[in-house]
Amino acid sequence: MDYTFIKSLGRKDIDLVLEMLESCLPFQYAERDTLEKLTSYCDKGFFIAGIFDGEDLAGYAVSSILVGESVKNTFNAYNVQTDREIWAPAGILNNCIIKDEYRGRGFQRELLKVREVVAQNNNVEEIYTSVHIKNINSIENLMRAGYKPLGQHIKSDEWIFFGKLLKDPVYFSHPSRIVL
Ligand SMILES: CC(C)(COP(=O)(O)OP(=O)(O)OC[C@H]1O[C@@H](n2cnc3c(N)ncnc32)[C@H](O)[C@@H]1OP(=O)(O)O)[C@@H](O)C(=O)NCCC(=O)NCCS
Repeated sequence: MDYTFIKSLGRKDIDLVLEMLESCLPFQYAERDTLEKLTSYCDKGFFIAGIFDGEDLAGYAVSSILVGESVKNTFNAYNVQTDREIWAPAGILNNCIIKDEYRGRGFQRELLKVREVVAQNNNVEEIYTSVHIKNINSIENLMRAGYKPLGQHIKSDEWIFFGKLLKDPVYFSHPSRIVL
């Protein structure tokens, strides 16, 4: 009997991920991870969640934690203005790919939830991601999960920066006054 489950992927699963990616039709609004990129996620200790349907890898999603000045620099790159002076560690949703035949079954939403839990378990209270303005499915999933648009990339303004507080409220002043 088939069943779905999510598990953390590591170095030994890279070939499986690459095989899954090879079976996907081209996609426009996400990076197609390579061996180098997946290896670097493992080297840097990024979290990779795989969602399985029985033995079949149906999709995966990557998240990481930014600290200190990199958080500030990321905010600046997306034109997000805030008067905060202390930069807490921030969770980042890096990528999420679902195999074509498994799309529309809520798998991206499941992988979103699990990455939030992992961020919280690592004492991260804020989580951010960048999504292409035309990636309607991802934007709807994020907004439904409580993410708010916070800014647009300074150089490549079709990329929108979304954020969500996993705990206490923080105030941002761009593009309009938003309470997360
Ligand atoms: C964007 C992407 C990750 C969404 O994954 P997903 O598991 O299909 O997303 P979900 O099922 O959680 O939600 C998709 C929404 O679109 C709807 N949908 C309907 N048919 C769909 C289809 N064929 N494909 C995708 N979404 C579909 C879903 O029903 C759902 O909305 P609903 O809950 O109101 O029904 C997936 O399409 C994908 O891998 N795309 C290519 C790579 C990419 O763009 N990644 C995102 C980077 S941010």
